Amino acid sequence: MAQPSNRVFSGIQPTGNLHLGNYLGAIVKFVAMQESHECIFCVVDLHAITQPFAVWGGPEKLADHTREVTAAYLAAGIDPKKSIIFNQSQVIEHAELAWLFNCVARMGWLNRMTQFKEKAGKDRENASVGLFAYPNLMAADILLYRATHVPVGDDQKQHLELTRDIAAKFNNDFAPQIATLGHGEAYFPMTEPVIEGPATRVMSLRDGAKKMSKSDPSDLSRITLTDDADTIAKKIRKAKTDPAPLPETLDGLAERPEAANLVGIYAALSGQTREQVIGEFGGKEFSTFKPALADLAVEKLAPVSGEMTRYLADPATVDGVLRDGSDRARAIAVETMREVKDIIGFLS
Ligand code: TRP
Repeated sequence: MAQPSNRVFSGIQPTGNLHLGNYLGAIVKFVAMQESHECIFCVVDLHAITQPFAVWGGPEKLADHTREVTAAYLAAGIDPKKSIIFNQSQVIEHAELAWLFNCVARMGWLNRMTQFKEKAGKDRENASVGLFAYPNLMAADILLYRATHVPVGDDQKQHLELTRDIAAKFNNDFAPQIATLGHGEAYFPMTEPVIEGPATRVMSLRDGAKKMSKSDPSDLSRITLTDDADTIAKKIRKAKTDPAPLPETLDGLAERPEAANLVGIYAALSGQTREQVIGEFGGKEFSTFKPALADLAVEKLAPVSGEMTRYLADPATVDGVLRDGSDRARAIAVETMREVKDIIGFLS
């Protein structure tokens, strides 16, 4: 199978409480890339279970959370006929390639992963082996489809570097076989992260130093994708700010994390740059800017939330999308695994 030239892969974990950070940092970009790329969007349920039940909701919640991410993809405008939407556990080749990558990646590489350190916290002995090997599964997700581009938030940059390291080591270790079997000099591509736009990091509405997160105890810290118009407006009204008006230049946002966050959110929702937003609102008080942001957020998010609610009321349709997407993803994945097993020398 020839290496594709512009294939996108990305994924979101089904851990519940999808929020504005997921939407602006990932989903909106996914929608945009459909026009120019062949896209595969995954609900990474095998990744979700690397953490304790309390984080992903446990077995009673997993199906609902999987449907929630799927509904968000659909509600935001990903077209399931054009792009592939599926959940990871239905394509078992993800786990198979991840095992092979467990044997390519080195302990030292994974020991440097900052996300593992953050998620494992102090009690590292008690973290799951899956959490440690998480980046290898992510590399498998991407390279199973030999994806060339991966839209992600900036916290995933290190995992993308690891993906390239794994691809490079595989290409190098098996270079003679890769050449003999007619795949040229490299089997796996050097996948590029796509990290851009004004909202690659959406911060908490209560603390500009913390990322917006599904697990923050304060509901006011995040706008979730199922919030209705009144709730969205209320959360923006109550968002933490400082007393000064918005600065006249972007530099003036440097020491003002809350203001910077709201400007970034406004820019992303309106499809403008942060410069343009400062051009319009520089020098204005938050009493002017916040209502404008609330109106914009309601205008952009309420329809998505409405569509999501509609999909969530129709699980049969959502499950059908995932089944169809899984069949199409599997067709590609099976082919890659056949070639990879040949390269490594497995008898089949
Ligand atoms: N690790 C990603 C996150 O937490 C989710 C993810 C899993 C992913 N596999 C992926 C993202 C493959 C992009 C490509 O956001």
